[in-house]
Amino acid sequence: MYRSTRLLLSAAAIGLGVPALAQAQMGELPDGDGKNLVQGLCVACHQTNLITGSVGYDQDGWAYLVGGMIDLAEPIKSQVTGYLAEHFPPSGARKPTLVAGDEVIEIREWRADVLGQRPRDTFMHSDGTIWWAGMYGSVVGKLDPATGEQTTFRLDPTARPHSVIEGPDGDVYYSGNSNNTIGRIDHETGQIRVYPTGNPDIRDPHTMAFAEDGSLWFTAQNSNYYGRLDPETGEFYTAQPPTDGARPYGIRRDSQGMMWIAYRGAFKIARVNPETREITEFETPNYGMANAKNYYVRRLAIDSQDNVWYVDSAMGEIGRFNPKTGEFKQWPSPSGPDSHPYAIHVVNDKVWYNESHQRPDTLVRFDPQTERFQSWAIPSGIGVIRNMDGTPDGNLVIAQSMTNTVGIVLIGEENIAKYSDILVSQN
Ligand code: HEC
Repeated sequence: MYRSTRLLLSAAAIGLGVPALAQAQMGELPDGDGKNLVQGLCVACHQTNLITGSVGYDQDGWAYLVGGMIDLAEPIKSQVTGYLAEHFPPSGARKPTLVAGDEVIEIREWRADVLGQRPRDTFMHSDGTIWWAGMYGSVVGKLDPATGEQTTFRLDPTARPHSVIEGPDGDVYYSGNSNNTIGRIDHETGQIRVYPTGNPDIRDPHTMAFAEDGSLWFTAQNSNYYGRLDPETGEFYTAQPPTDGARPYGIRRDSQGMMWIAYRGAFKIARVNPETREITEFETPNYGMANAKNYYVRRLAIDSQDNVWYVDSAMGEIGRFNPKTGEFKQWPSPSGPDSHPYAIHVVNDKVWYNESHQRPDTLVRFDPQTERFQSWAIPSGIGVIRNMDGTPDGNLVIAQSMTNTVGIVLIGEENIAKYSDILVSQN
């Protein structure tokens, strides 16, 4: 995760002392009332290093955060949150640099029904509902923003979906990140059809995008693959990129039908022609730079001129590639080189992304014309948005995997006014 020396030092500064600091590096919890409870209750879904590596919260903050993961009754709840607040109080680390500006937005968030499911990769269905993948819970979720009503589609527990996307037929496709499948949920009946990739070298179908011919293209990060599914026949085409350890991650289609892929494992992006299947790689400006982090370019998005916008997650920058001229340009993100830009989407030719390392997680807008940034703290705070998508009327849908929330970002006065009556938010 995002543990860093800086964080651990700040743990020392707040009085954990050196032995506790050494323990914290191992993810070991300091002694105290409630330690055994935390150790017993909190490791079902992740290790304690998420706790020791967190920026720390007060008791209410811990109650809010933990409330999205596990339903605790009193007196256990107070014991657990009291222990956490005592040993992991707010350290003030990783504060974002927020930038004021003229755009007006409103963020509405809902807690996902299944606790600790790690919601991610939202999109708005053409019927107006918001869908997401619940990776830890192995579920796909659906929310009607008009009523707040949620529907949970329970998948095979081994699927652990990474992403969801709407197909041309309105069905919803998910990537079975842990069982090497793509799944298809009939959006009317809820019936699920599973397509195994059939290639045993692929371990983790990741992000997806539809080609113009109705075929589904996908990346597989850790297996270093990308591929194509014909949803009618169930047939797969799979291939490896020329770069070793490229770790294909985000994928999007441009207006010419080309597929663009971000490499989490290199300072490169790639273009795949779905018809000829030819792949071309492009080195981004930081290619060749030393980088101790194990992430490079996580995701990308396309603007109306087919410029490719990407996050340089390693260097805390965003970049633009113009495929017509071959020109690259990059800009540093307001919160700096460690801000870890992650999700990205272009709405009306403005670039939106998040600084996922910051607490609170920060939503950033970049105007390519003025080259100005503007940013906002996400209300549910703790992060992380791992992917985002646009809605037909120019809003964004987001999910925060840490706080178990799904949200919509209403952009501009008109959208805020239009949705003020019909959107019901739970928190
Ligand atoms: C049902 C599953 C589940 C349980 C049980 C659970 N968590 Fe989590 N927790 C998650 C998920 C999912 C995340 C987000 C991980 C991610 O996005 O990478 C998370 C993230 C965290 C984070 C990181 C937030 C940050 O500051 O960046 C902390 C801290 C945390 N959990 C504490 C706890 C504590 C304390 C408990 C026990 C009281 C607990 N968790 C129990 C699922 C769970």
